[in-house]
Amino acid sequence: MKFSYLNSGHEMPMLGLGTYKITEKEEMFKVFKYALECGYRAFDTAQMYGNEEIIGETLEELLPKFNLKRADVFITSKLMTDQHGDKAAAAIDETLRKLRTDYIDLFLIHWPYVDGLERSDLKNGEIRASSWKFLEKACIAGKIKSIGVSNYTIKHLDEMLKDGSPYKARIRPAIDQVEFHPYLYQKEMLDYCDENGMTLEGYSPLGSPKSKDILEEEVIKNLAKKYSKQPAQIVLRWEIQHDVIVIPKSANPERIKANIEVFDFSLSPAEMESINALNKNKHYASDPVDIA
Ligand SMILES: NC(=O)c1ccc[n+]([C@@H]2O[C@H](COP(=O)([O-])OP(=O)(O)OC[C@H]3O[C@@H](n4cnc5c(N)ncnc54)[C@H](OP(=O)(O)O)[C@@H]3O)[C@@H](O)[C@H]2O)c1
Repeated sequence: MKFSYLNSGHEMPMLGLGTYKITEKEEMFKVFKYALECGYRAFDTAQMYGNEEIIGETLEELLPKFNLKRADVFITSKLMTDQHGDKAAAAIDETLRKLRTDYIDLFLIHWPYVDGLERSDLKNGEIRASSWKFLEKACIAGKIKSIGVSNYTIKHLDEMLKDGSPYKARIRPAIDQVEFHPYLYQKEMLDYCDENGMTLEGYSPLGSPKSKDILEEEVIKNLAKKYSKQPAQIVLRWEIQHDVIVIPKSANPERIKANIEVFDFSLSPAEMESINALNKNKHYASDPVDIA
């Protein structure tokens, strides 16, 4: 496993397991057991996924069986869009309770919009800035090791980072978790994170359940043949070589195993370029560009 060194001073595995849509305890247990056996040590959840509680129970049962401690795994969760502002402090405590832990490794603001407001409403900026203050406080109190954001565009990040902004952050976000795959090669965001000491994390790294087309691209299939790998492994490798942390979701044992076997080969600069060229600026999730 490769690690990313976050601006918070903590290390984060470059590859973790996505858990969106896994909501049954029995399935979660099987998936985590297999993932831990395969070497996964990072897990991505969110208040919105409704599975924090079963992840807490699962890890409590499984870690001792693997001779692992809480510190051996990296857990990410995210603030739900209806928990912004004053509700954020209690929402963080609720995540701690559900995950059965006294700290969260990484906690993100899930979306830059606030439930109940129009996406274009300027109040979104003021309220998400107040949520950030609660994340900062929880971080200082040791309840969260690293804090970050998700689905933030450069405009939203500028608000937190630029001198003179009324919403300037005291603690710089460690991570922006955004949709990232060969049809959405977010080069500008990647450069921005690099210039501002942040790390980019890519969700839906395989194009989400909605696109199998990426894995059918000739460029990807030819590279898979060349390296005796699967198309998904080529795509994940491309992301990791761009220093993007990836969290592919699978509930299938063969695919869970395949998705982590991406550290034993590398793509050449020309091969990286050939995948970069597949970009279509295509979002499968909602594009946050219209959020004020
Ligand atoms: N911050 C956000 O707003 C946000 C939004 C979306 C997702 N996320 C996070 O990112 C994680 C991953 O994103 P995602 O679930 O949208 O999409 P993804 O990981 O890109 O794709 C998941 C889909 O690909 C399939 N798959 C997995 N491995 C495969 C392989 N090796 N070959 C072929 N197909 C494969 C899975 O099916 P099987 O399960 O049947 O293998 C599933 O249908 C989520 O689980 C969640 O933790 C965050």
